[in-house]
Amino acid sequence: MVAGPKQFFHDGSARVLLEIQNIRKSYPGQSDRPVLAGVTINLDAGETLALTGESGSGKSTLLHLAGALDQFDSGEISVQGQKLSELNDSGRASLRRGPVALVFQQFNLIPSLNVSQNLAFHARIAGRHDPDWLAELSDRLGLAGLHERFPEQLSGGQQQRVAIGRALAARPALMLADEPTGNLDETASGRVMALMLDLVTRSGTALFLVTHSDKIANQLDRRVHLSGGTIR
Ligand SMILES: Nc1ncnc2c1ncn2[C@@H]1O[C@H](COP(=O)(O)OP(=O)(O)OP(=O)(O)O)[C@@H](O)[C@H]1O
Ligand SMILES: [Mg+2]
Repeated sequence: MVAGPKQFFHDGSARVLLEIQNIRKSYPGQSDRPVLAGVTINLDAGETLALTGESGSGKSTLLHLAGALDQFDSGEISVQGQKLSELNDSGRASLRRGPVALVFQQFNLIPSLNVSQNLAFHARIAGRHDPDWLAELSDRLGLAGLHERFPEQLSGGQQQRVAIGRALAARPALMLADEPTGNLDETASGRVMALMLDLVTRSGTALFLVTHSDKIANQLDRRVHLSGGTIR
């Protein structure tokens, strides 16, 4: 399929937010067996996309590439028109402090900071601290009574809600989430996912979500499946 001409919003910003073009990625010493062998995916601003695939198919690898946490062999990934291949270390770090937020299965909260400080952390670094939005996120995520607690004093579901709030606090254009509810039981997972979807929709954030769950994948705008190193 040939990509059509890029569409633009009224303000001139690119409508395609994330462009993954013909990406190849192999790990060191395995160039003959690439994990990703030509992956192409486009994600529009505000769109939600589920990425499914068997264990070991390369979902996390692809998400890490999109978050500029690792480098690809060939192809190109662009976020808001910025080619990741052209970024140096500090450019990659700015990307993750600005338009792109990541949420992982393992929460990755900062242990020495309490909930309130964790929630505000990325938004403060990005210079986009918005107390009203943070208060709303905290309220919606059911964290209001937990602000003084440290991550080790929280349940898995509570930690994950803090991680989601922290990611959304800076109003990123794109949220990359790698099985964000994989550590929660089905009820908690459903609740956190519904909340996350509602919040990304309300804040206009696009979501690229890795999930094993068909039920979750079906709640998103689109879904793609990774198999044999390509999208099927
Ligand atoms: N740092 C690494 N060095 C070498 N091989 C790696 C590395 N990270 C991942 N791999 C390999 O790349 C392949 C894809 O791994 P990846 O973690 O992307 O899969 P996944 O689809 O996320 O799987 P899961 O659903 O289990 O999380 C696997 O075969 C894995 O062993
Ligand atoms: Mg994975």
